[in-house]
Amino acid sequence: MLPERRGVPVGSDLVKAADHNGDHGLRPGRRSRRSGRRRLLFWLFSFAALFSICFAIFGFKMFSHGVEDHQTIPSLRTTKDISIESDTLEKPKKKPHRARFNPCEVQLRDPIDLLNEPKSFWNFVSFSSQYVQKEDIITPRFGGHQTLKEREQSFHATNQTIHCGFIKGPEGYPSTGFDLVNEDKMYMNTCTVVVSSCIFGSSDFLRRPTSKMISEYSKKNVCFVMFVDKETLVKLSKEGSVPDEKGFIGLWRIVVVNNLPYDDMRKTGKVPKFLSHRLFPSARYSIWLDSKMRLHTDPIQIIEYFLWRKKSEYAISNHYTRHCVWDEVQQNKRLNKYNHTAIDQQFLFYQSDGLHKFDHSDPNKPLPSYVPEGSFIVRAHTPMSNLFSCLWFNEVDRFTSRDQLSFGYTFLKFKRMNPDKPFVLHMFKDCERRAITKLFHHRNP
Ligand SMILES: *[C@@H]1O[C@H](CO)[C@@H](O)[C@H](O)[C@H]1NC(C)=O
Ligand SMILES: *[C@@H]1O[C@H](CO)[C@@H](O)[C@H](O)[C@H]1NC(C)=O
Repeated sequence: MLPERRGVPVGSDLVKAADHNGDHGLRPGRRSRRSGRRRLLFWLFSFAALFSICFAIFGFKMFSHGVEDHQTIPSLRTTKDISIESDTLEKPKKKPHRARFNPCEVQLRDPIDLLNEPKSFWNFVSFSSQYVQKEDIITPRFGGHQTLKEREQSFHATNQTIHCGFIKGPEGYPSTGFDLVNEDKMYMNTCTVVVSSCIFGSSDFLRRPTSKMISEYSKKNVCFVMFVDKETLVKLSKEGSVPDEKGFIGLWRIVVVNNLPYDDMRKTGKVPKFLSHRLFPSARYSIWLDSKMRLHTDPIQIIEYFLWRKKSEYAISNHYTRHCVWDEVQQNKRLNKYNHTAIDQQFLFYQSDGLHKFDHSDPNKPLPSYVPEGSFIVRAHTPMSNLFSCLWFNEVDRFTSRDQLSFGYTFLKFKRMNPDKPFVLHMFKDCERRAITKLFHHRNP
């Protein structure tokens, strides 16, 4: 069903146009009745034809026009792989021709709880990672100073100590950032299932999960944590979104991050995005949601659908148009997403260390795409999943914040270096992501 208010403007414009034309066609005294009737039929026919064409083009187009709230009924949709520039979503000022992306069918199980977790689910590769806590280096930084040798070693899925953010400097040196107050830390320590997101630098609005889609079970048992910086908190407060005395705005528990570790807000955003296993040490599952999306599905249903059912420990969607890192590099440069020299350095490094082009025709290709759409990630906090998250974070810390550039490389290298230790990553379709969230534009800058 098309929501009515979407169809109406198109229709009403056409009705006006048809009325106008109709006036001409039926101007009295100029034509015989018969030709008048013929004309009327002609115009009616033209109108109907025009309407159906416009409807076909614009009516559906509106589904993907993320700005508007709309009810999605996934089961009535089919997958359409038509292209859109993700980047246009982030630059709403220009309104280029927007192609359409629809949600596709997602068969969710009835509301369930963690007791339904399959008994054999946690049967994944087992080892134990320790994290570098502190470096005695006088220029402390959040990501530490991992050498290339340490980096190489860190890809091995074995008991070892690795870099994974949150690295402190010597005694007496200033914090390296991402400081949280104890009350928030204590709350976060209690979470076993987490939905998290972040807004830094007032880059977006606060979008609350669609309450009626979230089960009572999840409202009680899942932590919904929105990381913000002070600036964002102030802005949200001005707009009337003020946390209650317990720190909540709706389902979101607002956690203020002090002392951001990077000047680049996008890089800072990668800390909660990738390192949920560090931020929520008791969590067994986490769902990451970019702030441009509203959660529209129950978290446990999401975990069941993407992880339990697929026996997967990490789920991320593919990019809706690009599968090859070569294309992603081009696109990043074309849209001036980042310093070109830095992109080239990263890309050349990856090519010299085994990154190859995506081959559609390879029946044994390890992934359906080497470029993810990383705005929605579902994770079981298994050793492999946690290690992969650390490795990916370290790439972003070392190179550019464009994580779509490092995903394929990191995944392929991780696989290559652990041939006998499966990492079960499920790359799902972008249209599935669209079925369980609602997509918006980022806030206008
Ligand atoms: C790795 O660590 C785990 C838990 O700390 C321990 O049980 C296991 O024996 C260790 N494995 C090796 C190969 O040292
Ligand atoms: C771009 O990146 C290169 C290499 O990382 C760096 O030397 C250069 O200063 C950067 N340019 C700008 C404008 O930030």
